[in-house]
Amino acid sequence: MNLLEPFSQPVYVSQPLLPGIEELTKLVKLIWDSKQLTNNGKMVQQLEKELAEFLHVPYLSLFCNGTVALQLACQVLRLSGEVITTPFTFAATVHALAWNHLKPVFCDIEEDTFNMNPDLVESLITPETSALFPVHVFGRPCNVVKLQDVAERNGLKVLYDAAHAFGVKINGQDIASFGDVSMFSFHATKIYHTVEGGALTFNHPYLKERADSLKNFGIRGTDHVAEPGSNGKLNELQAAVGILLLDKVPEEIARRKEITALYRQMLSDVPGIKTMKESENVFANYPYFVIQIDKKEYGLSRDELYEKLKEYNIITRKYFYPLCSNFPCYRDLPSADRQRLPVANRIAETVLALPLYGQLPHSAVEKICTIIRSLR
Ligand SMILES: Cc1ncc(COP(=O)(O)O)c(C=O)c1O
Repeated sequence: MNLLEPFSQPVYVSQPLLPGIEELTKLVKLIWDSKQLTNNGKMVQQLEKELAEFLHVPYLSLFCNGTVALQLACQVLRLSGEVITTPFTFAATVHALAWNHLKPVFCDIEEDTFNMNPDLVESLITPETSALFPVHVFGRPCNVVKLQDVAERNGLKVLYDAAHAFGVKINGQDIASFGDVSMFSFHATKIYHTVEGGALTFNHPYLKERADSLKNFGIRGTDHVAEPGSNGKLNELQAAVGILLLDKVPEEIARRKEITALYRQMLSDVPGIKTMKESENVFANYPYFVIQIDKKEYGLSRDELYEKLKEYNIITRKYFYPLCSNFPCYRDLPSADRQRLPVANRIAETVLALPLYGQLPHSAVEKICTIIRSLR
């Protein structure tokens, strides 16, 4: 194989983990026999139980996707006024606030983790602030201790967007145990998924009760609709996929860890390419392999490298770009001013996610790295 020839087929940035078709067919048959396709059926109940055990949380509620879960989480926590969040995230994080008529207040991020900088949060708090809404970007935990301290001293709720952080542990403690509520996305591009789907985790039963009601139209009993809820339910077919994939997560993480180590080894000495370090005391889940490109040293900008790699059939992702604070719908907010978000603006211009999934052959990683090395 000529390592500098384009791949014959596109190599995408991610590839979904799939259950065996025979084992899926068996569960589909059970669903068919039960004639219950949705509305908190047996599969959803089983998966909620198994996920709560897997994540070591007392209460968990499944949703049709992570975005609706976030939108309803704001209501579960009765957030109001302003919410401090990060601009370096996927659109869904900030949109969840806008859908609830909450005002996003953008906080700049840390250089090394790309997470909300806890040292800057306090200066953004006003009498209108009701919560902190940090994101564990690329599965790397936020500084949960500092953020909790700021929240407690200022009487704020903490809602974590843990979309990327399934299975991550800090000092052996599962990431879902921090904050008031955490959201996990089970979109097909995530390390664990239900095709589309998501979950909220809670430490208090009343939060789960409210989430369960809000995702089911606000219905509390046969003749009782308590509040204006939405439809956020996961269905039985998708829950079946989730049940079958849960056992496969440890192996998927282990494979991704090996691939990440190979990428790091092959790219660590390329001038102008920076790889992210492992966080200390963290059990990581390796959802993305992200590099930072310094054009002065590497010779190509992030956008130029992205285009060049496409010529080799390597489909990477500018993740996250554009920055949420630069979207037309948010850029006029005072906190969206570029001068106030220097780190986030720079990082968003220079990061690139390379292909990473458990089934990615090591030979493909070697070829991708050889091509990246050759392009400078
Ligand atoms: C950080 C972040 N938040 C929220 C979401 C939304 O999740 P979903 O796609 O399940 O709606 C995503 C999805 O990719 C995400 O990456």
